[in-house]
Amino acid sequence: MKTNSVEKGWITENQAREIAENFGTPVYAYSQKILEEQADKALNFPNAYGLTVRYAMKANPNNNIIRIFTNKGIRIDASSGYEVLRSIRAGIPPSKILLTSQEIPSDLEQLVGLGVNYNACSLNQLQEYGKLNPCTAVTVRINPGTGSGSTNRTNVGGPSSSFGIWHENFEDILSIAKKYSLEIKRMHTHIGSGSDPKVWQEVARKSLDYAKKLIDAKHDVKILNLGGGFKVARMDDEKGTDLQECGAPIKEAFADFYNTTGKKLRLEIEPGTFLVANAGVLLAKVTDVVSTSSYDFIKINSGMTEVTRPCLYGAQHPIAVIPKNPDEKRGTKKYIVAGHCCESGDILTPAPSNPEELMPREMTEAKIGDIVVIGGAGAYCSGMSTKNYNSFPEAAEVLICNDGKIKGIRERQSLDQIIINELKII
Ligand code: LLP
Repeated sequence: MKTNSVEKGWITENQAREIAENFGTPVYAYSQKILEEQADKALNFPNAYGLTVRYAMKANPNNNIIRIFTNKGIRIDASSGYEVLRSIRAGIPPSKILLTSQEIPSDLEQLVGLGVNYNACSLNQLQEYGKLNPCTAVTVRINPGTGSGSTNRTNVGGPSSSFGIWHENFEDILSIAKKYSLEIKRMHTHIGSGSDPKVWQEVARKSLDYAKKLIDAKHDVKILNLGGGFKVARMDDEKGTDLQECGAPIKEAFADFYNTTGKKLRLEIEPGTFLVANAGVLLAKVTDVVSTSSYDFIKINSGMTEVTRPCLYGAQHPIAVIPKNPDEKRGTKKYIVAGHCCESGDILTPAPSNPEELMPREMTEAKIGDIVVIGGAGAYCSGMSTKNYNSFPEAAEVLICNDGKIKGIRERQSLDQIIINELKII
């Protein structure tokens, strides 16, 4: 394992120093070039009869990131009414948004009225949608009975998952659709994040079987959305998904489907991680270096407030120490990297899939004032942080643009902004 590389080589040590100097730390930095390259790869996903790519905006909802993708023709997967409104504010036409949520937004009627597409993820959701919008088109999300994620917590298929309509309740879908004269035009499955491509392919085939059952029940299914979940290699020893390899057999399966049903289904995919994870890093500062009888710790001015995944899932992110002074030569040492929150669980180097166990990593010997680069921080970091815990402000974000210019895309929060909604009654 390469433990000391600056994230995938796309950000140089000097760029990291410059960003830390000009924007302060902690700060997320994203590469427009890599975001666009990932978008192109997704838009080339093998397909037989057309492809729509949706960006799972929960992975990183900054309006600039959303627009980099939508400028390329990518559409939006939103997971709450608020995400829908946020993407509309980013300039995305409602008709390009598909809402797939655990919770029915209180303004569902208005959102659908604007042209937002709705994915019913439970029988109750289908029923409620039907009451509000009889005689319209709808999508249904099915839990196909199988899931796969990089950890149990990122697996959203199978009997332990509440996401989607359990496949054995298929007949209930048909009867609710009939009651409200709903046309099921799109079917959806999403089985987890960091899925095993073999399981993803197996579920894609199963999903075609369910689409066939809907067609047999006289629904004019036109689109099959197979979700996201394509694993990326954040660490050098991990294997990412090759989209061409993963999609090729499914393209064939769609062609076979046409041969047996006469229906040319359009394919939809909705990656989040794949598009953004390795296009972002977090830059933080070393604030202290301490030792116990068992471990040497680097403390940084960041942690679960910016990168929650390690303490939530035992997720692994590459970490590199950049000496403050460019000319300084140093050896390496094994460290635990600790975050700044008053939580023993605020650790950036847990054992894989085991947030409770510490796993020291070899890195450049650290001194107070050095910069720490945490890689793989483009997805589910700024959008999924425990910001404001211990009253730390939300971090800044910058974009390294295609012309090399570094531009701020989010300012660091101020104390006033942290407490703005508090009411003083005592
Ligand atoms: N579609 C649906 C309906 C989803 O729920 C998700 C992710 C995606 C697409 C995108 O999945 P991706 O391509 O990013 O794996 N916070 C976790 C993963 C949970 C994401 C939930 N849904 C993480 O940090 O990996």
